[in-house]
Amino acid sequence: MSSVAASLRAGAITLLLLSPALAQQDIYSRMDRIHPVYAPHGMVASQERLATEVGVDILKAGGNAVDAAVAVGFALAVTLPQAGNLGGGGFMLVHDAASGDTAAIDYRETAPAAATRDMYLDTDGNADPNLSRFTPLAIGVPGTVAGLALALERYGTMPLADVLAPAIRLAEDGFEVTAELSQSLKRSQERLSQWPSTAAIFYKPDGATYEPGETLMQPDLAASLGAIAMEGPAAFYEGDIAEAIAAEMERSGGLITRDDLSAYKAIVREPVAGTYRGYDIRSMPPPSSGGTHIVQILNILEGFDVAELGAGSAAAIHLMAEAMKRAYADRSAFLGDSDFVEVPLAGLTSKAYAASLRGGIDADRATPSETIAPGTSLAHESDQTTHFSVIDANGNAVSNTYTLNFGYGMGLVAEGTGILLNNEMDDFSAKPGVPNAYGLIGGEANAIEAGKRPLSSMSPTIVLKDGKVFLVAGSPGGSRIITTTLQIIMNVIDHGMNVAEASVAPRIHHQWLPDELRVEEGLSPDTIRLLEEKGHVIALKSTMGSTQSILRRDDGALFGASDPRRATSLTAGH
Ligand code: DON
Repeated sequence: MSSVAASLRAGAITLLLLSPALAQQDIYSRMDRIHPVYAPHGMVASQERLATEVGVDILKAGGNAVDAAVAVGFALAVTLPQAGNLGGGGFMLVHDAASGDTAAIDYRETAPAAATRDMYLDTDGNADPNLSRFTPLAIGVPGTVAGLALALERYGTMPLADVLAPAIRLAEDGFEVTAELSQSLKRSQERLSQWPSTAAIFYKPDGATYEPGETLMQPDLAASLGAIAMEGPAAFYEGDIAEAIAAEMERSGGLITRDDLSAYKAIVREPVAGTYRGYDIRSMPPPSSGGTHIVQILNILEGFDVAELGAGSAAAIHLMAEAMKRAYADRSAFLGDSDFVEVPLAGLTSKAYAASLRGGIDADRATPSETIAPGTSLAHESDQTTHFSVIDANGNAVSNTYTLNFGYGMGLVAEGTGILLNNEMDDFSAKPGVPNAYGLIGGEANAIEAGKRPLSSMSPTIVLKDGKVFLVAGSPGGSRIITTTLQIIMNVIDHGMNVAEASVAPRIHHQWLPDELRVEEGLSPDTIRLLEEKGHVIALKSTMGSTQSILRRDDGALFGASDPRRATSLTAGH
């Protein structure tokens, strides 16, 4: 071992001997650990390098966190077509340092006016997942343009045209295709090429895919972005883009009309609020389930000495899984769009309810899920949603997760617009007890209704300490979004990890049904054995999530990390 390595090793051992308070202070800067990206003024973490650079440029030019976030959101619609979008929806948390307030902007898609409760049932009354995932009936009324424009108008400082300019440039001049995008487009070719309007953009005229290093230009998308820059969101909801989307729906059999588009509204909501070991948690309320269950799970776990049990220990993972499955059972029954159904938010996030759930947890034995509520099995998986985090020099912060649902959404571009449309309607419960694409079960609360928003798991979160931003976190991952974001928070608060270590650590997930404890590679065999001995069924599957996290030290210094699970991510600052 070299002397440097030896002294680093000695440092790490010393750290273990320090008091928890001292260790906590050190988590930001110790370089004898996997270390995060550092910047003194502002920082952006996103899943795509060019979009991160767009955001950093806006911060450098004097824009605030919201200006940068909106620019990143539009840029990702160009450079990360799998998930970045104009034709989907999402959620943005904005923390305003001056007032200390955090707002939750809900720009989730809505069900078109012609949507009906049983629209995905076949003649025998069975849910047909093909209808809710792979046909134009799957498309919800997009919210992204309204949401980003609302955020900018309320909390930004720059004109819409200025924050759109980099995205327009990337769409018009094109950008270099990464190996990841090239492979992703190859994998999705059959599904996307069904639609000539999509094939014409993402594949060459002879059907070949773009190879890494080649340039992808999107002139129609550049024109759509240009129209939004000139006319504002009305270009999308009332102008030529609205007309093109409605025409596409008529042609291909979707439900969205011009009236649906002109009726769409992004909504500013109160975030879900909770506390965890002296930190304040702010996260997304319904129509997301994310914030509610992050707070609920943290409340349950607060009653256990998780730090003492240790990161990655079978004892800690067991308690986490037990808390998770109880929360996901509640999700299936109680969560939906709170503008349509009564969601017992205060109860679900109360410390008293958490204490009663905690009382049902046996530290030695897994509670079988069917004794918590009735069950079913996990359907196929799909992926793509994306999260980004921004903090500026004044301590303003944005935590944003948005999505088309599946990679490239429904796969259909509305002819002439360059805009990929979502398949978010699959997040509704097509039939009580029948799982969606993420194996999530819902009932009455998440039944389809005209104008209603489908229940989401997206969990953009901001953790505050003494009223100031401490941590900005979030992730894609379908049903795993909630538990992935939870583990970033716990790795930092309970286990004193810095934000890079917190991002790297192997993840676990339990969603009540199926009754399996999903784990990533990286848990030790004896940890797995101990968990099996407690009665858990372990499912070793692919990695979960793509977190983009930024931690702010009291003096304003920023430490960030993009999830190493995705190749194209970048955290950068200035
Ligand atoms: O809103 C939701 O919960 C889902 N539509 C998110 C989908 C997702 O995260 C896919 N990505 N990995």
